[in-house]
Amino acid sequence: MTTKIGIVAGSTRQGSYNRRLARIASADARAAGAEVTDIDLRDFELPIYAHEIEFDAFPAAAIELKALFQAQDAILFASPEYNGSVTGLLKNAIDWASRPTDGESLIALSAFRGKAAGIMSASLSPFGGLRSLAHLRQILGTVQMLVVPEQVAIPSAHQAFEDDALVDALPRQLITGLVESLLNVGGKLGFD
Ligand SMILES: Cc1cc2nc3c(=O)[nH]c(=O)nc-3n(C[C@H](O)[C@H](O)[C@H](O)COP(=O)(O)O)c2cc1C
Repeated sequence: MTTKIGIVAGSTRQGSYNRRLARIASADARAAGAEVTDIDLRDFELPIYAHEIEFDAFPAAAIELKALFQAQDAILFASPEYNGSVTGLLKNAIDWASRPTDGESLIALSAFRGKAAGIMSASLSPFGGLRSLAHLRQILGTVQMLVVPEQVAIPSAHQAFEDDALVDALPRQLITGLVESLLNVGGKLGFD
């Protein structure tokens, strides 16, 4: 069966380095024969999560995003580091998609549970967003995803790309390796 992979970036910035990483990984996943869904968070008008909003009027965009995650075998995240962690944009999206809908149990986590995850970060600093990757790994573990051990951190992102392509061969190979591993694990899990 074809493995379904969703690829999501934690930045909506015009010219975002992380969205470039997501596009590179997306091309790799397509080349490997996966069914790829590019998930652009600009398409989802998500309010900052609040209990009252959830219980008064669960946003349609949150239900849509959750359904997109639910349909995947694996999800690949490419997020910038903001003040040592993942962006509020990405965390808010994960928070909304972690909430139960349709009478699910509080701990169903049906958007994430038992699916494979991969993580990447590009940042301007010499550390490539490593602190945010540690946080993201922990967050995704908390929502019961199996995060593959490979990860990609691109330091000095302003010098790492030429247009949409990575200048150096090694990080490019690391992305291919991460995608391969994620498809391999995601294809085997089939949790439901
Ligand atoms: C609020 C804020 C906090 C930031 N904090 C960090 C940080 O902790 N570490 C880091 O490496 N870069 C940090 N940066 C710089 C980002 O690496 C840079 O903006 C990067 O281009 C964001 O990724 P993007 O191009 O995908 O949007 C921060 C940027 C912003 C706007």
